[in-house]
Amino acid sequence: MPDLAKTEGLETRKWRALTRRGKSLFLEEVELAQIAQAVGTPAYVYSSQALGRAYLELDAAFEGHERLIAYAVKANSNLAVIARFAKLGAGADVVSEGEIRRALAAGVAPEKIVFSGVGKTAQELAFALKAGIGIFNLESEDELHLLDKVAADQRAKARVSVRLNPDIAAGGNDKIATGRATDKFGVNWDRAHSIYRAIAASKWLEAVGIDIHIGSQITSVEPYAKMAGKAADLVRRLRRDGHDIRCVDIGGGLGVDYARDGCSVIDPPDYAAAILEHLEPLGVKLILEPGRVLTAGAGVLLTSAIRAKRASNRRFVILDAAMNDMIRPALYGERHRATPIVTSSSGELAPVDLAGPVCESTDIFDRDVMLPALNPGDVIALTGAGAYGSVLSLEYNSRPRIPEIMVDGDQFAIVRKRRTYDQILDEESVSFKPCAV
Ligand code: LLP
Repeated sequence: MPDLAKTEGLETRKWRALTRRGKSLFLEEVELAQIAQAVGTPAYVYSSQALGRAYLELDAAFEGHERLIAYAVKANSNLAVIARFAKLGAGADVVSEGEIRRALAAGVAPEKIVFSGVGKTAQELAFALKAGIGIFNLESEDELHLLDKVAADQRAKARVSVRLNPDIAAGGNDKIATGRATDKFGVNWDRAHSIYRAIAASKWLEAVGIDIHIGSQITSVEPYAKMAGKAADLVRRLRRDGHDIRCVDIGGGLGVDYARDGCSVIDPPDYAAAILEHLEPLGVKLILEPGRVLTAGAGVLLTSAIRAKRASNRRFVILDAAMNDMIRPALYGERHRATPIVTSSSGELAPVDLAGPVCESTDIFDRDVMLPALNPGDVIALTGAGAYGSVLSLEYNSRPRIPEIMVDGDQFAIVRKRRTYDQILDEESVSFKPCAV
């Protein structure tokens, strides 16, 4: 009989948030079965230590260089998660007024907030400027003119970088590539000089840096080295034109290994070396916008088996979590490792398809997963679920949004409550009450 702990190889790696002790899976010092019992399923559970370690490991790789790690809030915007990083000195990379509000509420210093995003509105720009955020990453000339107007209205100066598109293809997934010339992001590289001239001509805008983000789920350092080389060349040219370029925002994108519970693929020191080789001689402050690499490996999604079902020659287990709670498998074809939180002693492994109860054929977490028989009520953990999990969840099929739990040592806290049916229904109305116009 295969032993799950051995096939998982959980014991062979360095520090991990997730460990199997006997039959039970633990996150830090808390037995996941205890959380499932107390909070119910489905539920996201995060390790505070894993978040902290991921941050500190990346930060340490850039030791000795002026830097700001602006956590990409979109990866996991739970206030407790943002606050965990903020306490360690992190800033925030945000893409909406909502994310600015979250970052501020979680204790991020306004000057450590960088505002990215391809469709910032006048209202969002005005809110951000009033809040005193650090840098606006401009994504178009149109946005430059809009910010100029907003800043003039407030009689306040805005610090800006321009997000330039380096035309570098990086990351394996077409759905999340951003750095190619055909992607909607950033300003064409060749337009850099004219756009910085336009900034210099504005009384209200101050160019402080350049910004590049080449994509997500990047698994080798080569695209980063290429990007850093191009960035260094551009900074030199812009400086020759008289622009005081002091910061280079190198974006995010560091990939994780979902087969290994979302741990980092690129070693932070290798990443830092690839970047610093080109950018260190310029004496610029580096801004990093990591999201996934800081949070993916810290989280699991707990879900219970509702029932087993056979169809033709396939064995399904229908789970209580679905694509509305975790859309990554349906949207990107990602495979999050599934493992029981308590293994049974008679556990012969057999292939099974893990499905959710939502009425869509694509509501499948994974196929042919080798698992012991799951009885109704048995709980499994889908790993690597700390990034782009809860944030991408929906209430399709009127399934209330699921809770988020933070583990710290031998304690855990509910950091987002499960939504109730009443909350969902209260927002709507059966009667037609015309709005006053
Ligand atoms: N900075 C900018 C400007 C971004 O657009 C992104 C991600 C990041 C930073 C953070 O990238 P990360 O370090 O997390 O790769 N939902 C997809 C990922 C979309 C990424 C969007 N932009 C997924 O679940 O794989």
